[in-house]
Amino acid sequence: MISTLEAPLVAQHVSYRYGGGTPVLEDVSLVGEAGSWTAVMGPSGAGKSTFLYCCAGLLKPELGEVTVAGCALERMKERDLTRLRRDHIGFVFQDYNLVPAFTCLQNVMLSDLFGGPKIDTQAAVGALADVGLSGYANKYPADMSGGQRQRVSIARALASCPQVLFADEPTGALDTRSSRTVMNLFRTVATRGTTILMVTHDPNVAACADRVMFLVDGCVHSTCSGESAANIAGRLALMSEGRVDRQ
Ligand SMILES: Nc1ncnc2c1ncn2[C@@H]1O[C@H](COP(=O)(O)OP(=O)(O)O)[C@@H](O)[C@H]1O
Ligand SMILES: [Mg+2]
Repeated sequence: MISTLEAPLVAQHVSYRYGGGTPVLEDVSLVGEAGSWTAVMGPSGAGKSTFLYCCAGLLKPELGEVTVAGCALERMKERDLTRLRRDHIGFVFQDYNLVPAFTCLQNVMLSDLFGGPKIDTQAAVGALADVGLSGYANKYPADMSGGQRQRVSIARALASCPQVLFADEPTGALDTRSSRTVMNLFRTVATRGTTILMVTHDPNVAACADRVMFLVDGCVHSTCSGESAANIAGRLALMSEGRVDRQ
């Protein structure tokens, strides 16, 4: 058993429901060791994004505990939670969450502009280059395609060298080549020690991670590691048809 002190991300028995409705997550647990990369897959509405939000301190679980970078989120004041998110967490939002009035460069340097970790201009330009956006520093989000905006949001999440990176469908708007570039980047940061939790519906993307956790109806259905994209796609298809037993 890995202690919460050793693993940068520990979710224990997390349950959540929106506004007192039916449970969206039930008893979901996960240990993200330093440098580990976990993909979360499952049917639409399974609770994948909700789980990511609970782990990143953006939603408060109804039951269970989440520890990030050694801090138990439940016991933190909102101000300290904001600081933890700013200093130790990177989040790639499914809808990018770029500030329209800011240039790409300013978006990448957002945490620095708001008193977070220092990101120098050269590092931010480098982060944009890493996602294939050299020369886009002074463009505004409105002048870019969905895929380009998604890559800006990835550059922003990585520029502050977070201890834990959360990414919700980070390749949803990307073509195969850009997806591969981003997956190579994720592998590089994981090798340097960043813990990654990534939601994806793409088996080719999930196969790049160290392991895959399948969520169905808010519960962990099963996990696997070292499977090919074809095998992951096969598992997902059977799961959608309810033909694979839970583990
Ligand atoms: N803000 C919200 N208010 C109420 N219900 C929500 C909200 N966000 C998501 N849900 C519901 O919670 C369930 C899980 O949603 P979500 O975590 O977004 O699933 P996934 O990311 O796996 O598609 C779905 O039934 C969805 O309709
Ligand atoms: Mg989602």
